[in-house]
Amino acid sequence: MPRNKGMLLPSADIFSLSATDAAVLARIHGECFRDAWNVESFSSMLSKGSFFGFLLKFQQKPVGFVLCNSLIDETEIITMCVLSACRNKGYGKYLLKNVIVHAEQRSLKKIILEVSEDNVGGIALYESIGFQKIARRKGYYQNFCQHGNACDALVMSLATI
Ligand SMILES: CC(C)(COP(=O)(O)OP(=O)(O)OC[C@H]1O[C@@H](n2cnc3c(N)ncnc32)[C@H](O)[C@@H]1OP(=O)(O)O)[C@@H](O)C(=O)NCCC(=O)NCCS
Repeated sequence: MPRNKGMLLPSADIFSLSATDAAVLARIHGECFRDAWNVESFSSMLSKGSFFGFLLKFQQKPVGFVLCNSLIDETEIITMCVLSACRNKGYGKYLLKNVIVHAEQRSLKKIILEVSEDNVGGIALYESIGFQKIARRKGYYQNFCQHGNACDALVMSLATI
């Protein structure tokens, strides 16, 4: 796959998530996280009207996704990931930009998320698009940090309107 950082390749396509994507999301999530979520979890979330997100495909193959929940006047990013072989090409940023447009079109005031304090790539991605750290949840991640220790969650936020 050619390197094309910060710009979406012409053959990459973005699709709104539907419940039929649950198996694809579980597969990608399982490749990207130690605490993989199963098909039923994704299916259950996507069957609720408040959940939405985007799936990105390169040459018709899924390469990453973002899953969100719309709360009263804000959007929460539940999870997002890009397959390791496809990282650092701007796909994560492009997924987030689609979430921002979605939130702006619905007059949702802000986007929030939690990220593990040891997730250098995730924090860099969110900061690159303007998210700011607004809180810390002590010991929030019990088993999934480096060396198996508990670590804090950083709460990050981006104002959209
Ligand atoms: C985090 C993740 C989604 C980033 O996806 P990506 O497609 O590689 O990100 P992009 O190519 O769009 O990069 C966007 C920005 O983040 C920065 N970035 C991404 N990964 C980085 C890393 N590991 N270290 C430092 N910076 C990084 C890029 O340099 C870029 O910044 P710039 O535009 O200012 O140059 C991907 O690494 C991933 O799926 N990780 C595992 C799952 C995860 O941690 N998800 C997020 C927490 S829920």
